[in-house]
Amino acid sequence: MFRYDSLRGSILSMLLLLLMTGCGSDEPAEVVLERLILANVHVEGYPTARGLRFFEDQVRQDPLLGSRLKLDLQLGGVLGNEKEALEKLGFGGIQMACTSVAPLAEFSSSIGVLTLPYLFRDPDHMWQVLDGEIGDELLHSLEASGLVGLAWYDAGSRSFYNRERPVRRLADLEGLKIRVQKSEIMREMVEALGASPVSLGFKEVYTNLHTGSIDGAENNVPSYRSERHFEVAGYYSYDRHSTIPDLLLVNLKVWKRLLPEEQAALREAARQSSIAQRGFWRDYVEEALVAVRAAGAEINEVEDIAAFQQAVQPLYAKYGERYGDLVTRIRAVE
Ligand code: GCU
Repeated sequence: MFRYDSLRGSILSMLLLLLMTGCGSDEPAEVVLERLILANVHVEGYPTARGLRFFEDQVRQDPLLGSRLKLDLQLGGVLGNEKEALEKLGFGGIQMACTSVAPLAEFSSSIGVLTLPYLFRDPDHMWQVLDGEIGDELLHSLEASGLVGLAWYDAGSRSFYNRERPVRRLADLEGLKIRVQKSEIMREMVEALGASPVSLGFKEVYTNLHTGSIDGAENNVPSYRSERHFEVAGYYSYDRHSTIPDLLLVNLKVWKRLLPEEQAALREAARQSSIAQRGFWRDYVEEALVAVRAAGAEINEVEDIAAFQQAVQPLYAKYGERYGDLVTRIRAVE
Protein backbone atom coordinates (compact mmCIF):
# COMPACT_ATOMS: atom_id res chain seq x y z
CA MET A 1 0.00 0.00 0.00
CA PHE A 2 2.76 2.34 1.04
CA ARG A 3 4.79 1.60 -2.11
CA TYR A 4 1.76 2.03 -4.36
CA ASP A 5 0.98 5.49 -2.81
CA SER A 6 4.50 6.72 -3.21
CA LEU A 7 4.65 5.46 -6.82
CA ARG A 8 1.34 7.18 -7.56
CA GLY A 9 2.73 10.37 -5.92
CA SER A 10 5.82 10.31 -8.12
CA ILE A 11 3.80 9.79 -11.29
CA LEU A 12 1.49 12.66 -10.38
CA SER A 13 4.44 15.00 -9.68
CA MET A 14 6.04 14.10 -13.00
CA LEU A 15 2.80 14.75 -14.84
CA LEU A 16 2.45 18.09 -13.10
CA LEU A 17 6.01 19.03 -14.03
CA LEU A 18 5.41 18.06 -17.64
CA LEU A 19 2.25 20.15 -17.72
CA MET A 20 3.99 23.16 -16.16
CA THR A 21 7.00 23.10 -18.43
CA GLY A 22 5.06 22.12 -21.48
CA CYS A 23 7.55 19.27 -22.11
CA GLY A 24 6.28 16.13 -23.67
CA SER A 25 3.78 18.08 -25.76
CA ASP A 26 3.93 20.55 -28.63
CA GLU A 27 2.68 23.35 -26.36
CA PRO A 28 5.27 26.07 -25.68
CA ALA A 29 6.30 26.77 -22.07
CA GLU A 30 4.05 29.26 -20.34
CA VAL A 31 5.15 32.84 -21.04
CA VAL A 32 5.85 34.87 -17.94
CA LEU A 33 4.65 38.46 -18.25
CA GLU A 34 7.18 40.92 -16.83
CA ARG A 35 6.16 44.38 -15.69
CA LEU A 36 8.89 46.89 -16.47
CA ILE A 37 8.73 50.24 -14.70
CA LEU A 38 10.32 52.92 -16.90
CA ALA A 39 11.20 56.27 -15.30
CA ASN A 40 11.69 59.63 -17.01
CA VAL A 41 11.66 63.24 -15.80
CA HIS A 42 9.70 64.75 -18.65
CA VAL A 43 6.01 65.54 -18.72
CA GLU A 44 3.45 63.91 -21.01
CA GLY A 45 3.54 65.55 -24.46
CA TYR A 46 7.26 66.47 -24.27
CA PRO A 47 9.13 64.90 -27.24
CA THR A 48 11.04 62.44 -25.04
CA ALA A 49 7.82 61.34 -23.32
CA ARG A 50 6.19 60.99 -26.76
CA GLY A 51 9.14 58.85 -27.88
CA LEU A 52 8.64 56.62 -24.84
CA ARG A 53 4.91 56.29 -25.53
CA PHE A 54 5.83 55.29 -29.08
CA PHE A 55 8.22 52.69 -27.63
CA GLU A 56 5.45 51.40 -25.36
CA ASP A 57 3.17 50.95 -28.41
CA GLN A 58 5.90 49.16 -30.36
CA VAL A 59 6.42 46.74 -27.48
CA ARG A 60 2.67 46.17 -27.06
CA GLN A 61 2.19 45.44 -30.75
CA ASP A 62 5.25 43.26 -31.20
CA PRO A 63 4.32 39.58 -31.69
CA LEU A 64 7.11 38.39 -29.36
CA LEU A 65 7.14 41.17 -26.79
CA GLY A 66 3.44 41.97 -26.49
CA SER A 67 2.66 38.94 -24.33
CA ARG A 68 6.00 39.01 -22.55
CA LEU A 69 6.57 42.59 -21.37
CA LYS A 70 4.25 45.17 -19.90
CA LEU A 71 5.73 48.65 -19.73
CA ASP A 72 4.71 50.94 -16.91
CA LEU A 73 5.80 54.49 -17.81
CA GLN A 74 6.38 56.76 -14.82
CA LEU A 75 6.83 60.19 -16.37
CA GLY A 76 7.30 63.69 -14.95
CA GLY A 77 9.99 62.69 -12.46
CA VAL A 78 7.46 61.03 -10.11
CA LEU A 79 10.10 58.43 -9.21
CA GLY A 80 12.69 61.11 -8.40
CA ASN A 81 15.41 62.96 -10.24
CA GLU A 82 17.73 61.17 -12.64
CA LYS A 83 20.39 60.34 -10.09
CA GLU A 84 17.83 58.53 -7.90
CA ALA A 85 16.25 56.83 -10.92
CA LEU A 86 19.67 55.52 -11.98
CA GLU A 87 20.39 54.19 -8.50
CA LYS A 88 17.04 52.39 -8.49
CA LEU A 89 17.74 51.05 -11.96
CA GLY A 90 21.13 49.77 -10.81
CA PHE A 91 19.75 47.64 -7.98
CA GLY A 92 16.63 46.60 -9.88
CA GLY A 93 14.07 48.72 -7.96
CA ILE A 94 12.95 49.83 -11.41
CA GLN A 95 13.70 48.02 -14.65
CA MET A 96 14.07 50.79 -17.25
CA ALA A 97 14.84 54.52 -17.43
CA CYS A 98 15.47 57.21 -19.97
CA THR A 99 17.92 59.81 -18.66
CA SER A 100 20.44 62.34 -19.85
CA VAL A 101 23.92 60.96 -20.46
CA ALA A 102 25.38 63.52 -18.02
CA PRO A 103 24.62 61.63 -14.75
CA LEU A 104 25.64 58.36 -16.47
CA ALA A 105 29.32 59.27 -16.70
CA GLU A 106 30.10 57.47 -13.44
CA PHE A 107 28.53 54.23 -14.76
CA SER A 108 30.97 53.87 -17.65
CA SER A 109 34.61 54.60 -18.33
CA SER A 110 33.83 56.16 -21.70
CA ILE A 111 30.29 57.55 -22.05
CA GLY A 112 31.16 60.80 -20.23
CA VAL A 113 33.06 61.87 -23.33
CA LEU A 114 29.70 62.98 -24.74
CA THR A 115 29.41 65.66 -22.06
CA LEU A 116 32.58 67.52 -23.07
CA PRO A 117 31.69 71.06 -24.20
CA TYR A 118 31.87 71.91 -27.90
CA LEU A 119 32.68 68.30 -28.77
CA PHE A 120 30.47 68.08 -31.86
CA ARG A 121 30.55 70.42 -34.85
CA ASP A 122 26.75 70.37 -35.08
CA PRO A 123 23.78 68.03 -34.40
CA ASP A 124 24.37 66.07 -37.63
CA HIS A 125 27.88 65.30 -36.49
CA MET A 126 26.52 64.00 -33.18
CA TRP A 127 24.05 61.68 -34.94
CA GLN A 128 26.77 60.38 -37.28
CA VAL A 129 28.75 59.42 -34.18
CA LEU A 130 25.86 58.02 -32.12
CA ASP A 131 24.35 56.02 -34.99
CA GLY A 132 27.75 54.54 -35.87
CA GLU A 133 30.37 52.29 -34.35
CA ILE A 134 31.34 54.70 -31.54
CA GLY A 135 27.70 55.07 -30.47
CA ASP A 136 27.34 51.27 -30.26
CA GLU A 137 30.52 50.96 -28.23
CA LEU A 138 29.24 53.58 -25.79
CA LEU A 139 25.89 51.80 -25.45
CA HIS A 140 27.70 48.59 -24.49
CA SER A 141 30.10 50.39 -22.13
CA LEU A 142 27.43 50.47 -19.41
CA GLU A 143 27.16 46.69 -19.09
CA ALA A 144 30.00 46.51 -16.56
CA SER A 145 27.75 48.63 -14.31
CA GLY A 146 24.70 46.42 -14.78
CA LEU A 147 22.94 48.59 -17.38
CA VAL A 148 22.23 48.10 -21.08
CA GLY A 149 21.92 51.14 -23.36
CA LEU A 150 19.17 50.57 -25.95
CA ALA A 151 18.82 53.79 -27.97
CA TRP A 152 19.75 57.47 -28.01
CA TYR A 153 17.14 60.20 -27.81
CA ASP A 154 17.61 63.77 -29.00
CA ALA A 155 18.03 66.41 -26.29
CA GLY A 156 19.26 69.22 -28.54
CA SER A 157 22.00 71.57 -27.48
CA ARG A 158 22.28 73.27 -24.11
CA SER A 159 22.74 77.00 -23.49
CA PHE A 160 22.65 79.34 -20.49
CA TYR A 161 19.63 81.20 -19.17
CA ASN A 162 19.31 83.41 -16.13
CA ARG A 163 17.26 85.98 -14.22
CA GLU A 164 19.77 88.84 -14.36
CA ARG A 165 20.88 89.79 -17.86
CA PRO A 166 21.40 88.54 -21.38
CA VAL A 167 24.75 86.79 -21.75
CA ARG A 168 26.26 88.42 -24.81
CA ARG A 169 29.92 87.95 -23.95
CA LEU A 170 31.82 85.56 -21.72
CA ALA A 171 32.23 88.26 -19.06
CA ASP A 172 28.44 88.39 -18.60
CA LEU A 173 28.53 84.95 -16.99
CA GLU A 174 30.95 86.14 -14.32
CA GLY A 175 29.75 85.36 -10.80
CA LEU A 176 26.36 83.91 -11.77
CA LYS A 177 25.21 80.88 -9.75
CA ILE A 178 24.25 78.33 -12.38
CA ARG A 179 22.45 75.06 -11.76
CA VAL A 180 24.15 72.03 -13.33
CA GLN A 181 23.25 68.35 -13.60
CA LYS A 182 24.95 65.80 -11.32
CA SER A 183 28.07 65.73 -13.46
CA GLU A 184 31.67 66.62 -12.69
CA ILE A 185 32.37 67.83 -16.23
CA MET A 186 29.36 70.15 -16.18
CA ARG A 187 30.55 71.65 -12.89
CA GLU A 188 34.06 72.17 -14.23
CA MET A 189 32.76 73.64 -17.46
CA VAL A 190 30.70 76.27 -15.63
CA GLU A 191 33.73 77.13 -13.46
CA ALA A 192 35.96 77.41 -16.53
CA LEU A 193 33.45 79.89 -17.98
CA GLY A 194 33.66 82.09 -14.88
CA ALA A 195 30.34 81.22 -13.18
CA SER A 196 29.61 79.16 -10.03
CA PRO A 197 28.05 75.72 -10.46
CA VAL A 198 25.30 74.41 -8.16
CA SER A 199 24.27 70.73 -8.64
CA LEU A 200 20.53 70.24 -8.39
CA GLY A 201 17.97 67.77 -9.67
CA PHE A 202 15.97 68.83 -12.72
CA LYS A 203 12.72 69.17 -10.80
CA GLU A 204 14.31 71.48 -8.20
CA VAL A 205 15.39 74.13 -10.70
CA TYR A 206 12.14 76.11 -10.94
CA THR A 207 11.83 76.74 -7.18
CA ASN A 208 15.48 77.64 -6.80
CA LEU A 209 15.26 80.12 -9.66
CA HIS A 210 12.09 81.50 -8.17
CA THR A 211 13.57 82.09 -4.73
CA GLY A 212 16.80 83.42 -6.22
CA SER A 213 19.02 80.83 -4.56
CA ILE A 214 20.43 80.30 -8.07
CA ASP A 215 20.67 82.93 -10.82
CA GLY A 216 20.36 80.65 -13.78
CA ALA A 217 20.67 77.23 -15.33
CA GLU A 218 21.57 75.70 -18.69
CA ASN A 219 19.42 73.51 -20.86
CA ASN A 220 17.75 73.15 -24.27
CA VAL A 221 14.81 75.40 -25.25
CA PRO A 222 12.24 72.54 -24.99
CA SER A 223 13.09 72.02 -21.28
CA TYR A 224 13.24 75.79 -20.68
CA ARG A 225 9.68 75.87 -21.93
CA SER A 226 8.18 72.65 -20.56
CA GLU A 227 9.51 73.28 -17.03
CA ARG A 228 8.34 76.92 -17.28
CA HIS A 229 11.80 78.22 -16.35
CA PHE A 230 11.20 81.17 -18.71
CA GLU A 231 8.76 82.54 -16.11
CA VAL A 232 11.54 82.98 -13.55
CA ALA A 233 14.65 83.35 -15.74
CA GLY A 234 13.77 85.56 -18.68
CA TYR A 235 17.11 85.70 -20.55
CA TYR A 236 18.07 82.75 -22.74
CA SER A 237 21.44 83.11 -24.49
CA TYR A 238 22.51 80.66 -27.20
CA ASP A 239 26.09 79.57 -26.67
CA ARG A 240 25.29 75.89 -27.42
CA HIS A 241 28.07 74.69 -25.13
CA SER A 242 27.04 71.05 -25.13
CA THR A 243 24.94 68.58 -27.06
CA ILE A 244 24.20 65.78 -24.63
CA PRO A 245 21.75 63.09 -25.72
CA ASP A 246 19.31 61.17 -23.53
CA LEU A 247 19.55 57.39 -23.36
CA LEU A 248 16.96 54.62 -23.02
CA LEU A 249 18.26 52.00 -20.59
CA VAL A 250 17.31 48.61 -19.22
CA ASN A 251 18.68 46.80 -16.18
CA LEU A 252 21.16 44.06 -17.25
CA LYS A 253 19.53 41.31 -15.15
CA VAL A 254 16.17 41.99 -16.80
CA TRP A 255 17.91 41.97 -20.20
CA LYS A 256 19.51 38.61 -19.49
CA ARG A 257 16.15 37.06 -18.65
CA LEU A 258 15.06 37.71 -22.25
CA LEU A 259 15.67 35.24 -25.06
CA PRO A 260 18.06 36.47 -27.80
CA GLU A 261 15.14 37.02 -30.19
CA GLU A 262 13.28 39.02 -27.52
CA GLN A 263 16.39 41.13 -26.92
CA ALA A 264 16.65 41.82 -30.65
CA ALA A 265 12.96 42.81 -30.79
CA LEU A 266 13.34 45.12 -27.78
CA ARG A 267 16.38 46.81 -29.31
CA GLU A 268 14.51 47.26 -32.57
CA ALA A 269 11.49 48.78 -30.78
CA ALA A 270 13.88 51.18 -29.02
CA ARG A 271 15.57 52.05 -32.34
CA GLN A 272 12.23 52.79 -33.97
CA SER A 273 11.23 54.98 -31.04
CA SER A 274 14.51 56.88 -31.29
CA ILE A 275 13.79 57.69 -34.94
CA ALA A 276 10.26 58.83 -34.06
CA GLN A 277 11.51 60.86 -31.07
CA ARG A 278 13.92 62.85 -33.26
CA GLY A 279 10.95 63.91 -35.38
CA PHE A 280 8.90 64.89 -32.30
CA TRP A 281 11.95 66.87 -31.13
CA ARG A 282 12.30 68.84 -34.38
CA ASP A 283 8.62 69.83 -34.25
CA TYR A 284 8.71 70.85 -30.61
CA VAL A 285 11.86 73.03 -30.73
CA GLU A 286 10.21 75.57 -33.03
CA GLU A 287 6.96 75.54 -31.08
CA ALA A 288 8.82 76.03 -27.76
CA LEU A 289 10.79 78.96 -29.12
CA VAL A 290 7.64 80.72 -30.30
CA ALA A 291 5.93 80.06 -26.94
CA VAL A 292 8.73 81.40 -24.72
CA ARG A 293 9.15 84.49 -26.89
CA ALA A 294 5.41 85.14 -26.75
CA ALA A 295 5.62 84.87 -22.95
CA GLY A 296 8.26 87.63 -22.90
CA ALA A 297 11.55 85.71 -22.75
CA GLU A 298 14.49 87.49 -24.40
CA ILE A 299 16.51 85.19 -26.62
CA ASN A 300 19.94 86.15 -27.96
CA GLU A 301 23.04 84.66 -29.60
CA VAL A 302 26.30 85.13 -27.69
CA GLU A 303 28.73 87.29 -29.60
CA ASP A 304 32.12 85.79 -28.75
CA ILE A 305 31.59 82.06 -29.11
CA ALA A 306 35.34 81.56 -29.75
CA ALA A 307 36.07 82.92 -26.26
CA PHE A 308 33.66 80.33 -24.77
CA GLN A 309 35.35 77.55 -26.75
CA GLN A 310 38.78 78.76 -25.70
CA ALA A 311 37.83 78.96 -22.02
CA VAL A 312 36.82 75.26 -21.84
CA GLN A 313 40.07 73.93 -23.36
CA PRO A 314 41.52 73.05 -19.91
CA LEU A 315 38.83 70.34 -19.68
CA TYR A 316 40.27 68.67 -22.77
CA ALA A 317 43.72 68.77 -21.18
CA LYS A 318 42.38 67.35 -17.92
CA TYR A 319 40.30 64.56 -19.50
CA GLY A 320 42.81 63.85 -22.28
CA GLU A 321 44.04 60.66 -20.71
CA ARG A 322 40.58 59.29 -20.01
CA TYR A 323 38.78 60.31 -23.20
CA GLY A 324 41.59 61.46 -25.54
CA ASP A 325 41.36 58.61 -28.06
CA LEU A 326 37.61 58.85 -28.23
CA VAL A 327 37.75 62.61 -28.75
CA THR A 328 40.13 62.08 -31.67
CA ARG A 329 37.90 59.36 -33.17
CA ILE A 330 34.75 61.47 -32.69
CA ARG A 331 36.35 64.49 -34.32
CA ALA A 332 37.43 62.33 -37.27
CA VAL A 333 33.82 61.31 -38.03
CA GLU A 334 32.66 63.22 -41.10
C1 GCU B 1 17.30 67.62 -20.31
C2 GCU B 1 17.30 66.14 -20.40
C3 GCU B 1 16.88 65.52 -19.10
C4 GCU B 1 17.68 66.08 -17.94
C5 GCU B 1 17.63 67.57 -17.93
C6 GCU B 1 18.47 68.18 -16.81
O1 GCU B 1 16.00 68.08 -20.17
O2 GCU B 1 16.41 65.70 -21.40
O3 GCU B 1 17.04 64.15 -19.20
O4 GCU B 1 17.20 65.65 -16.73
O5 GCU B 1 18.06 68.06 -19.18
O6 GCU B 1 19.06 69.22 -17.01
O7 GCU B 1 18.55 67.59 -15.74
